[in-house]
Amino acid sequence: MSAMVPMDPARAVTTTALRAMKSAQRPIVMITAYDTPSARLVEDAGVDVILVGDSLGMTVLGYDSTLPVTVDDMVRHTAAVTRGAKRALVVADMPFMSFQVSVEDALRAAGRLVAEGGAAAVKLEGGAHVAPTVRRLVQAGIPVMAHVGLTPQSVHQLGGYKVQAKEADAAATLIDDCLALEEAGAFAVVLECIPGELARLVSDRLVIPTIGIGAGEGCDGQVQVFHDLLGLGGDFLPRHAKRYADVGALIREAVTAYADEVRDRAFPTGAHSTHMDAATLENVRSSRGRRLRRVDGTGTEA
Ligand code: KIV
Repeated sequence: MSAMVPMDPARAVTTTALRAMKSAQRPIVMITAYDTPSARLVEDAGVDVILVGDSLGMTVLGYDSTLPVTVDDMVRHTAAVTRGAKRALVVADMPFMSFQVSVEDALRAAGRLVAEGGAAAVKLEGGAHVAPTVRRLVQAGIPVMAHVGLTPQSVHQLGGYKVQAKEADAAATLIDDCLALEEAGAFAVVLECIPGELARLVSDRLVIPTIGIGAGEGCDGQVQVFHDLLGLGGDFLPRHAKRYADVGALIREAVTAYADEVRDRAFPTGAHSTHMDAATLENVRSSRGRRLRRVDGTGTEA
C-alpha cells in the first residue's frame, strides 16, 4: 500500500489515530492550509493533519514575521479551513501573546479556535515552561500539539531563523522539554530546524509522535508550508523545503493570458455572455431611445 494512503481513507483522523500511526511506523503527513480551497485540495490529496499555522502572517497576510497575527485572524482562517476539510485533523496555531501572559488567556484563545474555528486541536510554541499551560488546556478537553526547536514567535530572542540545539547543552534541554510536554499531555510535538540525529533520538524516546520540519528523516511525520511546496512564496525557499510544483508560474501565465485576451477583445466571447431576444431589445431601445444616445469622451451626446 502506498505511504500516501491514510490509515482509513473514510474515517476522520484523530489524535489517537496519530499515535497508532507512530506505533505502526506509518509516516504522518501534515501540511499547512489557510482557506477553504487549499484545505479541500490538501484533503483530497490524502494528508493526515492540516495545520492552520501562524505562518499565515507571512504566506497570506503579507507580514514579515508571525508576530502580528491575532487570535481573530486565526479564528477566521481556521473556520475557513474546517469548512473545507472533513477528514483530516485540523490543528490551529496559538498566535504570539495569546498564551504567554496567563493560562486564562490561553484557555480563552484555544476555546475560540475550537468553538468558533472548528479546530480539533491547537499548537503552541515553547518548552518545559509552557507545560503547565499544556496541562490546563488538555484538562479542559483541548488536545495540544507542542512545538520546540526553532520557534518563530521567539525570532528576536533567537537572533534569527537559525537551526537550534546544535550544542550538547541545548540538545539535552530540548530532550527535557519534549519529555515535560509529553508528560503534560501533548499529543504530538513539532521539531523545527534541529539536527536530524537529535530529532531521531527524541522520536525514539517519546511515545507521542514527532512531526519534523527541517529535522531530518527520523521523525514520525513531516510538516511543510503549503506555499513553499507549491512555489507560491516568491523566490525564497527555506533549505528544509522542497518545491513540488511551480503553481506561482502557472498562475502568472494564466492571468497574463487573461489580461492579453481582455485587451485584444478576445475574451469574453458570445459563449461567455447571456443574450436578449431581438423583440425585447427593440422594446428597450424604443422606450429609452433618447437616453441611449452614445456619448463621446466629454459626456456630450453624439
Ligand atoms: O506556522 C506554521 O506554519 C508552523 C509550521 C512551520 C510548523 O508552525
